[in-house]
Amino acid sequence: MKKEFQRTLVTSALPYANGPVHIGHLAGVYVPADIYVRYLRLKGEDVLFVCGSDEHGVPITIRARKEGVTPQSIVDRYHKIIKDSLSALGCNFDIYSRTTSKVHEKNASAFFKKLYDEGKFTSKESEQYFDPQAKVFLADRYITGTCPHCGNPDAYGDQCEKCGSTLSPEELINPKSKLSGAQPVKVKTKHWYLPLNEYEPWLRDWILEQHKEWKTNVYGQCKSWLDAHLEPRAVTRDLDWGIPVPVDGAEGKVLYVWFDAPIGYISNTQELLPKDWQKWWKDPTTRLVHFIGKDNIVFHCIVFPSMLKAEGSYILPDNVPSNEFLNLEGDKISTSRNWAVWLNDYIHDFPGQEDVLRYVLCANAPETKDNDFTWKDFQQRNNSELVAIFGNFVNRAVVLTQKYFGGKVPADLKPEQIDMDTLSQIPACRERLEDDIENFHFREALKEAMNIARIGNKYISDTEPWKVAKTDLDRTASILNTSLQICADLAIAFEPFTPFACEKLRNILNVGFWAGTDHRSGDGSVDPSHFGVAGTDGENFFAPGSGRAIHTLPDGSPIPADMSNILSWDKLGGEDILPAGHQLGEAELLFQKIEDSVVEAQVKKLNDTKAANEAAAEKLVEEEAAKKVEPQKAECTFDDFQKMDIRTATVLSAEKVQKSDKLLKLTIDTGIDQRVIVSGIAKTYKPEDLVGKQICILANLKPRVIFGIESKGMILMAQQGDGKMRFITPAEVLVNGSIVG
Ligand code: MF3
Ligand code: ZN
Repeated sequence: MKKEFQRTLVTSALPYANGPVHIGHLAGVYVPADIYVRYLRLKGEDVLFVCGSDEHGVPITIRARKEGVTPQSIVDRYHKIIKDSLSALGCNFDIYSRTTSKVHEKNASAFFKKLYDEGKFTSKESEQYFDPQAKVFLADRYITGTCPHCGNPDAYGDQCEKCGSTLSPEELINPKSKLSGAQPVKVKTKHWYLPLNEYEPWLRDWILEQHKEWKTNVYGQCKSWLDAHLEPRAVTRDLDWGIPVPVDGAEGKVLYVWFDAPIGYISNTQELLPKDWQKWWKDPTTRLVHFIGKDNIVFHCIVFPSMLKAEGSYILPDNVPSNEFLNLEGDKISTSRNWAVWLNDYIHDFPGQEDVLRYVLCANAPETKDNDFTWKDFQQRNNSELVAIFGNFVNRAVVLTQKYFGGKVPADLKPEQIDMDTLSQIPACRERLEDDIENFHFREALKEAMNIARIGNKYISDTEPWKVAKTDLDRTASILNTSLQICADLAIAFEPFTPFACEKLRNILNVGFWAGTDHRSGDGSVDPSHFGVAGTDGENFFAPGSGRAIHTLPDGSPIPADMSNILSWDKLGGEDILPAGHQLGEAELLFQKIEDSVVEAQVKKLNDTKAANEAAAEKLVEEEAAKKVEPQKAECTFDDFQKMDIRTATVLSAEKVQKSDKLLKLTIDTGIDQRVIVSGIAKTYKPEDLVGKQICILANLKPRVIFGIESKGMILMAQQGDGKMRFITPAEVLVNGSIVG
């Protein structure tokens, strides 16, 4: 951390509470943010980690309307699911609140009012699309129609997904409201705008000159927005779900979701620290870092900073690390196609394996380009990295110590050069690890952590203490002492990445850890149940893994004043982290092998989804085709028609034509005679469906020999656009041979 900063405020994008979160969210935002925060805490830095649900916006109202429930019940449902699943994956927020909270409503409203009173907004009346049936204004996305460029009948008011053109609703042919199907009408309405154009010169300097260190994807997107020039942006909407616009003449209007949501970061800090929050938002010695996905860049780098600048009393972000997107098994993650691994499903299917997902998503994080998650890679990384390297090394060191030294760290009785050579590699790993994390290169950082495990694994394989023990217990003591120091290094280095395994590992090593100040209990005003734990009181010690304050070590003894047996970042790579004679805890496995059948089941689930999607898409195409009616044929005369002898007949018997899967041989009573007609309807009707049925035939069609059978006439069928066909039956049974005309 640069010298001018004394503390770090980390935010991670507030997920929309209109669905659960999936691995794409986790990989792009929450895992990196949590790694960063855990690392800073472990270094003893003062850090606050804020998140919550984003509970306003049009999609939530649409979903509520579809399900016939209130928007509040939608956000209540998903807020809980999201909060629980992020927590289960170890995302260690100081607060996870929501934008429907009272504190936020008051805060966002006051923020708007201040800008309004100070004349920071412009206002404008304009015509906007309105759904006269649903009685709501329509966002561009909720108008569909035919694309003027490619003829796609399902283009959106902002974009055609078929040809990729950017559209406006005016351009659509036959525009329709997605809500009611009604044709939208234009209605005059007044809105308030933040004149971003006025902030452009300042933004250019602040981002393009002063923040050249931002990640290239972030900097590049900002630059292209700024180069294209900014326009005033509406900050209000006509909607009945959201925070009411707190000014006269704005009845029925709410704050635009992207205006209120980022203010949620501030509100949530206020909710947690009602007395102390300003230190985090107004003191220039606080460093503000926003973790986001790439679709959020413009809002966090341009819009929100302009809002903060307009308000005037807040600090601005020092960095906005943003990731690209994660794909799944080669395909874009999609909520509507259910092409995702949902966190709540993962937690259910892989209990106790939260770290594996964190590990794989970090190892494969879409940091500089979109990346792919596959179940095969997931299994492979677990089995051949977490289990075979990290877990295996720790297990060998601990089990051998139990076996030969009663579980006490043996003294370094007979050191050799290889011990020093091994241990001396670790400080360099630590340095690279720090550098990587501080520059938001979490994949590389994780590789460094794993490197320490590789070093340990190689050391124990090379020195073979299980063999040495047969002849030289003093040397065995040194090997295991060295190995256990590396285990302690791993418990520190992996804590940001795999906190659950590190909690286990600290229990195995019988040590606690130091992790900075706990703000969750900062002023005692927060209900501990809010975090699903109790017992925090502002002490500086955290329970293993959870990051919660504790008052005793895992073995129940009081926290010693001298900090021995307490791991902290500054001990990583140091000498004798575990003193000789220190009693270890119980051995247990850090990671479990994942069997083929387990990942195969997940792949099957995805394949089933894909098949269901394809079937649904096919059905849609067929439904459209079915509705399609052929244009009228060329004119004919009554005489033309009179030539055709159409009459009623009854099917006497029916059978399949051998060697054909299309044809049925029907014997029918035409009133004139009994005759055979071969008809291509075997795919529509089984023989027994037809026997006894009255139908209509063209009796005077020239006979033809089909599959060796003479067919005299033709069965009349009506056929839809999708190929579905049915025979024609008179409304009432008539005498066979009655003329149709
Ligand atoms: N809900 C938005 C999304 O999921 C993110 C909002 S971030 C905030 O894309 F800053 F607005 F809170
Ligand atoms: Zn198109």
